[in-house]
Amino acid sequence: MPASAGDALDEESAWALLLALARRAGRGDPIVRDVALRLRDDGSLEEDGADAWIVARPSTERGWSRYEGAPIGRELELLFDLYMPLCVGADRDALTIAHLAQTLDGRVAVASGESQFITGEEDLLHCHRLRALCDVVVVGRRTVEADDPLLTTRRCAGPSPVRAVIDPERRLGEAHRVFQDDSGATLLLSATGAVRNGARHGRAEVVSLDAIDGRLSVQAIVAELRRRGLRRIYVEGGGLTVSRFLEAGALARLQVTVAPTVFGSGRPSFTLPDVQALSQAVKLRWRHLALGRDVLFDCEVGR
Ligand SMILES: NC(=O)c1ccc[n+]([C@@H]2O[C@H](COP(=O)([O-])OP(=O)(O)OC[C@H]3O[C@@H](n4cnc5c(N)ncnc54)[C@H](OP(=O)(O)O)[C@@H]3O)[C@@H](O)[C@H]2O)c1
Repeated sequence: MPASAGDALDEESAWALLLALARRAGRGDPIVRDVALRLRDDGSLEEDGADAWIVARPSTERGWSRYEGAPIGRELELLFDLYMPLCVGADRDALTIAHLAQTLDGRVAVASGESQFITGEEDLLHCHRLRALCDVVVVGRRTVEADDPLLTTRRCAGPSPVRAVIDPERRLGEAHRVFQDDSGATLLLSATGAVRNGARHGRAEVVSLDAIDGRLSVQAIVAELRRRGLRRIYVEGGGLTVSRFLEAGALARLQVTVAPTVFGSGRPSFTLPDVQALSQAVKLRWRHLALGRDVLFDCEVGR
């Protein structure tokens, strides 16, 4: 391994490599064995070539190792540590991941709904990177109401995902940016019957799903998205929506970035059925990483 090949790996090319791995996983063809990798100038992946940058290792928690003799620096190590486990391995082609930014006391917003921004720049960049690595970003009605988000990738290179808003009763107005922006597709996931007002909501396509007591089945949401080829699903919030995916056992990975601040009131990160004993708590395998002044808990769910 010539040192020059290691030197050639800068943050831009490392990120482009990760995007290529995610795209490959999204096509149903994830890396499932140790492969030495490099990105060609045309953006395609070169596997087991002479000038590899790194080795993808689906068999380890880290998901990668440095190619022998090629120092890449702390920043790139962190980049690969954070994203490689989301891109390689047999179960990465149909990944469902959620992320929340919360206070030390477990709040994702103050009572009025204001939440921008609880965590710092590094975590915001991380959220945009998660969008770029996934096929679809899912949010709940109250997030659109409070934040009027665009849900595109503006802080990093990479494609914007399809947007899916869960609004069972179609309470949201059509003027929200996510329903008017024409830079990408938006789906409005509503309850059967709410489609009576038309098959479109602004520029968004209305998708009707069966609801029981006003709730759409998370399994039905996931199945509908996958049926449309949207295999890598990123649930961006808010707390109720992430909680419903967690409760349904639909998350492979849960990421919570904790900011060193306390609200003492406000909207909670998690709302789940009562547990009566510690033994009933959700079990997670986790690791933590520093993201600027914040700490990211990166958890595997139900393994
Ligand atoms: N800190 C962060 O990481 C972060 C991220 C995103 C948003 N936020 C903030 O979080 C707040 C919103 O969070 P939230 O927990 O209050 O609400 P939310 O999760 O944004 O939206 C919840 C609503 O979405 C609908 N919904 C979600 N899943 C559903 C399902 N399976 N079936 C039927 N309906 C479903 C329901 O709408 P109906 O009520 O119409 O039934 C539900 O009340 C906002 O203030 C926003 O700024 C923070």
